[in-house]
Amino acid sequence: MRVQDKVVIVTGGANGIGSALCKRFAAEGAKAVIVADIEGEAACEVARSIGGSEYCANVASESDIQLLVDTVLKKYGQIDLFCSNAGIGVEGDCCVPDRDWSRIWEINVMAHVYAARAVLPGMLARKEGYLLQTVSAAGLLTQLGSAPYAVTKHGALALAEWLEITYGDCGIKVSALCPQGVKTRMLENAEFGGGAFLRETALEPDQVAEAVIQGLEAEQFLILPHPEVLEYFRRKAADYDRWIRGMRRLQANMQPLKAV
Ligand SMILES: NC(=O)c1ccc[n+]([C@@H]2O[C@H](COP(=O)([O-])OP(=O)(O)OC[C@H]3O[C@@H](n4cnc5c(N)ncnc54)[C@H](O)[C@@H]3O)[C@@H](O)[C@H]2O)c1
Repeated sequence: MRVQDKVVIVTGGANGIGSALCKRFAAEGAKAVIVADIEGEAACEVARSIGGSEYCANVASESDIQLLVDTVLKKYGQIDLFCSNAGIGVEGDCCVPDRDWSRIWEINVMAHVYAARAVLPGMLARKEGYLLQTVSAAGLLTQLGSAPYAVTKHGALALAEWLEITYGDCGIKVSALCPQGVKTRMLENAEFGGGAFLRETALEPDQVAEAVIQGLEAEQFLILPHPEVLEYFRRKAADYDRWIRGMRRLQANMQPLKAV
């Protein structure tokens, strides 16, 4: 899919990867770019800089997502591409309090479910539509230092796969964006720890946006801005036990993790 002349929504569009996507989609000639974020003012700034529209929404709230979709449908008649990108990190092991597990589950997993529920009826009626879900290499591999991030990103990838398998023959395309480190506020704040190597190989958000444009054009399920992630994923599938031993060594060299 080419984004030219398309109506596009990006959640988490006010910062980082989402902001780079909004800017790139506008540069590619999208008909409308809707910058949706819980940070209304920052969304407004991005929208103003690209001639898009801002929308203040909490993706953890199904009614917020439904209202966002209804508003855009009312104005433009259709949504071509919904980028479910907003996400958070929570550092820690299984002892992370339940309220934090719930919060990250709502944002990193349920928001994708709410988005699919809201946009699929219109897309299925038109037999056309694209869902881009920002997952993470952590969804294919793991996230050292953060059980909640590893688990929720695996969940997000599972949902993306399921949607593509289930609706692929009905004209719906799904892509899962799975970068490693990206130089955004999330990585700066080390919300999910994970070691220095994430920073050493971190990409600029613009580089991720370029990979997304190429991935959407190729209608590829997995979009991997760090190509080496494919090799790590292959190694994991080829010998799970060996891969786990390797990850334990990496973790041991990295940081002490509290025993569960
Ligand atoms: N930065 C990385 O290294 C990295 C790597 C892989 C995947 N990711 C994923 O990329 C996505 C974007 O992260 P980023 O690195 O650009 O982080 P970021 O913190 O720069 O941007 C995240 C945006 O999401 C918004 N947001 C957070 N919670 C929200 C909510 N409940 N409702 C609406 N908006 C909300 C924030 O306000 C912010 O604008 C996330 O899903 C993240 O897990 C990031």
